[in-house]
Amino acid sequence: MTENALDSRLAVVILAAGQGTRMKSSLPKVLHRIGGRPLVGHVLDTARDLAPAHVVVVVRHERDLVADAVLGVAPEVVVVDQDEVPGTGRAVEVALDALGDFDGDVLVLSGDCPLADAGTLGSFVAEHREARAGATLMTAVLDDPTGYGRIIRESDGSVARIVEQKDASPEEAAVAEVNAGMYVFAAAALRAHLPRVGTDNAQQEKYLTDIVALLRQSDGRVAASVAKDVTVTYGVNDRVQLSEVGRLLNARTVRRWQLEGVTVLDPATTWIDVTATLAPDVTVLPNTHILRSTSIAEGATVGPDTSLVDCEVGAGATITRTDATLAVIGAGATVGPFAYVRPGTELGERGKIGTFVETKNSTIGVGSKVPHLSYVGDATIGRNVNLGAGAITANYDDISKHRTEIADEVHAGSHNVFVAPVRIGEGAKTGAGAVIRKDVPAGALALSIAPQRNTAGWVENNRPGTGAAEAAARARSAQEAGDGSQEAADG
Ligand code: UD1
Ligand code: CA
Repeated sequence: MTENALDSRLAVVILAAGQGTRMKSSLPKVLHRIGGRPLVGHVLDTARDLAPAHVVVVVRHERDLVADAVLGVAPEVVVVDQDEVPGTGRAVEVALDALGDFDGDVLVLSGDCPLADAGTLGSFVAEHREARAGATLMTAVLDDPTGYGRIIRESDGSVARIVEQKDASPEEAAVAEVNAGMYVFAAAALRAHLPRVGTDNAQQEKYLTDIVALLRQSDGRVAASVAKDVTVTYGVNDRVQLSEVGRLLNARTVRRWQLEGVTVLDPATTWIDVTATLAPDVTVLPNTHILRSTSIAEGATVGPDTSLVDCEVGAGATITRTDATLAVIGAGATVGPFAYVRPGTELGERGKIGTFVETKNSTIGVGSKVPHLSYVGDATIGRNVNLGAGAITANYDDISKHRTEIADEVHAGSHNVFVAPVRIGEGAKTGAGAVIRKDVPAGALALSIAPQRNTAGWVENNRPGTGAAEAAARARSAQEAGDGSQEAADG
């Protein structure tokens, strides 16, 4: 966010009262998320970049949900309730009341149009001011204008009025230039004309767009700005558009990081939330999701097939085919392939969480390794520890969770179970297959398994006729023949 000087002549009104029927959702449309934020959150963020003196958000449908989401990220915003009169015109009218005697320019945006960036909108406001118009519309020429209001121009090229899809004649519907739903109005023009807008139309709503014709009738100036990049005008009305607009936003985010020095092999399968941060010389391999507050330090490599949610990844770390949430991965550490790294995992510098390893609420110290097939939960592991393949911390006794403490320089054998609460002292060793139920003192060797006992001939006696018994018999004969010839040679 840029810290611009406050523009005391600018107010932004964001319309977010509609239900979003076409989403077919219990969640209000403007709270559906792309790029890690609700649609309205992107609009709010852009609005704040313009440093207006006022931001007003109009709510009605699920008003508490929407108001909480808005105030949660932008407490300075004024939330205004639309009454039972429906339509975008009414929404702006109630916002205008909240602006008191403000007499500057009012930029009207929709909570469902998240792609308009501050650069585009800043120029749009500047154009309006230069034109000294009562209203300036943003328009777009679309291959398929279906659903949008159409811009009807006079023979001299000036805008005469806007006609909604549902009210359009076939000739009007054939017009490809549409109303993008973003406007700058002189507050005085809104005050003069909004009360005169009626509801005599197909939707029985008070259309904001009707103000254009009213302004013209009273000799007001209406200017129009045709968007050079039509994508900034795209709105979300259904879930097809939600994914399309989400993909466009993501493409923009990926490109921004590429220009900041991040290598992204396949932008089409790389998803980066607008809230994530990446350092130069990070490499992102295909099918990777970098979400929420995740930060990735210089020279790290993530992916392929990796999802990081709220993670902090240190410089030069490597994370491969991993699902990680709320984890801190130290510099130069390696994770995966096929690791499940759950909240509260902290892996130290040069540490390793290896293949088919699950971790949770555990600290794994500098240089320590959990390389293969393990579960480490509620554990504190010191420096330069090595856990053998198949290590399990049995942290749960059916009633509560307990911690396992493994001190510096411990080397644990393969297939150990640490029954928590338990502590393995500094430099201790454990044997293969050990079930560690009691603390191990520093420097001790812990073995917990009974000595191995072999019962000769068991398979031939107990599994006659099986392949195993036949193989055993062959081995026995070969052994006996060998012994015989040895005896003969010796004899
Ligand atoms: C609107 C425009 C249309 C334009 C299109 C661009 C009108 C009458 N039509 O149509 O010309 O091409 O946007 O995307 O303005 N809202 C309220 N209160 C309401 C109704 C809507 O706050 O009573 C809000 C909605 O939450 C939404 C925005 O206004 O954020 C636009 O409403 P929507 O119903 O999506 O309008 P469109 O039919 O897309
Ligand atoms: Ca819309």
